[in-house]
Amino acid sequence: MANDTTDDGSSDDPKSDRKARRAARKSAASGATARDPAARAATRERRAAKRAERAEGKGEGEGAATGKGQRRGRRAATAGSAEAGTDAEAGAKRGAGARAAKRERRSAAAGEGTSAEAATDERRARRSAVRAERRAAGGGSEGARRDRRAVRAARGSAATGNAAMGEGKRGYLEVGKASQAGIEVSDGLYARFATLAIEVATDHFLRHLDGKGTLGATTKATILDGLAAGRELGLFGRGGIREHDFVNLSVLAALVKPELYVESGVFRGSSLFAFHRSKDVRRIVAIDPDLSALKFRDEDGERTRYVTDQDFSQIDFGAVPSRALVYFDDHVSTTKRIMEAADKGFGTLVFDDSFGLTGMARQQMPSTPTLPFILHHDRLEVGDVVAWSTERRRFEFKVTDELMDELSTARERIDRVVPFPNLFDYMANPYDLPIVGGEKALVLLK
Ligand SMILES: C[S@@+](CC[C@H](N)C(=O)[O-])C[C@H]1O[C@@H](n2cnc3c(N)ncnc32)[C@H](O)[C@@H]1O
Repeated sequence: MANDTTDDGSSDDPKSDRKARRAARKSAASGATARDPAARAATRERRAAKRAERAEGKGEGEGAATGKGQRRGRRAATAGSAEAGTDAEAGAKRGAGARAAKRERRSAAAGEGTSAEAATDERRARRSAVRAERRAAGGGSEGARRDRRAVRAARGSAATGNAAMGEGKRGYLEVGKASQAGIEVSDGLYARFATLAIEVATDHFLRHLDGKGTLGATTKATILDGLAAGRELGLFGRGGIREHDFVNLSVLAALVKPELYVESGVFRGSSLFAFHRSKDVRRIVAIDPDLSALKFRDEDGERTRYVTDQDFSQIDFGAVPSRALVYFDDHVSTTKRIMEAADKGFGTLVFDDSFGLTGMARQQMPSTPTLPFILHHDRLEVGDVVAWSTERRRFEFKVTDELMDELSTARERIDRVVPFPNLFDYMANPYDLPIVGGEKALVLLK
């Protein structure tokens, strides 16, 4: 239907024009008096119909189906037909049938009347009747306007080479069918770009930690092996970390070489796995009230302590070595965790999900107050509110006097914050991952 209508709203289809003129004549003949608006409209329609007829005669004479006179006539007739509604619809149907019959008669007279041609004529007549019906139903309505807009949009995008994407080849891109979202990268490219990601992460952390150097080939190969092993275990996905952050954590493990690694919020163990695979990590404490989803266990029972009945705040870690790292992914307040870690003697922390405004409003249980609020607490005022909703629940975060004190105390403990680098350019993530940024940060305490 969209192809039947031109930009200015008139029709390119001569059949519809005749239908419209018939409707206009019928409407004009309906007997309204000369003084009332209906009568004036009828007069206008009669004139329009005459103009259309004249235009058609001229157009046919010149063999110009889209001549100026004809277009003018068609517009006039179309305007006249707008009020004719169902009459036009019925007339159109009758007209299409009659035209098909006429074509058949002509063909028969010329001795060309094969049954195939008759069938084609019939099909044409049916299609024409359907089109006319649709036009009569939507003429001048919002539906018709939408169609015209769609035609214009399609023409515009075709002109700029932006046609709606179909299947086939487009430059270097092959477009095919799929039934579910996903991403695959060929093995060689995956390995080369993952290695690049390791190097980018190493540079990033070293720069922010005032360090120099690079990771050796063996360490890089170990991280690549870890990615493959993690994929095999089904570690990377919703609820856990993704491959790019496995690279970030593995690089941190290789650079910090923590003697003690503590993780609060273990779930299936995707982040734990990065430290679990590091030979430099001597002792691990894995804390989660529910460790039933954990996908692996340390074979060396001595190295890892699994804790389900105590919170981080309640655990006695003894003398904390200088090279120790705590990873918080437990959705507990970031200020609370900073104070507790500092009191226990930890100086190197990693926070997951300690988002700013956009990220926190995508969480059902953000670790509020999160890092951006701690770092920029001087921009907050008592009474400030952040509220957000999912389809089922509403969340509200309110700034109080007590919170302001907590934020400034936590801020005092922080030496620097190093956001995790964004490795999305080198590590492919599937469609379902919302790209928010700022989801993980290394926090160094004074
Ligand atoms: C987002 S998941 C952790 C994902 C995990 N880091 C991974 O990469 O697979 C959050 C976990 O925090 C745990 N959790 C909730 N409250 C906690 C608490 N007070 N201490 C430690 N873990 C907690 C939940 O049971 C849940 O398994």
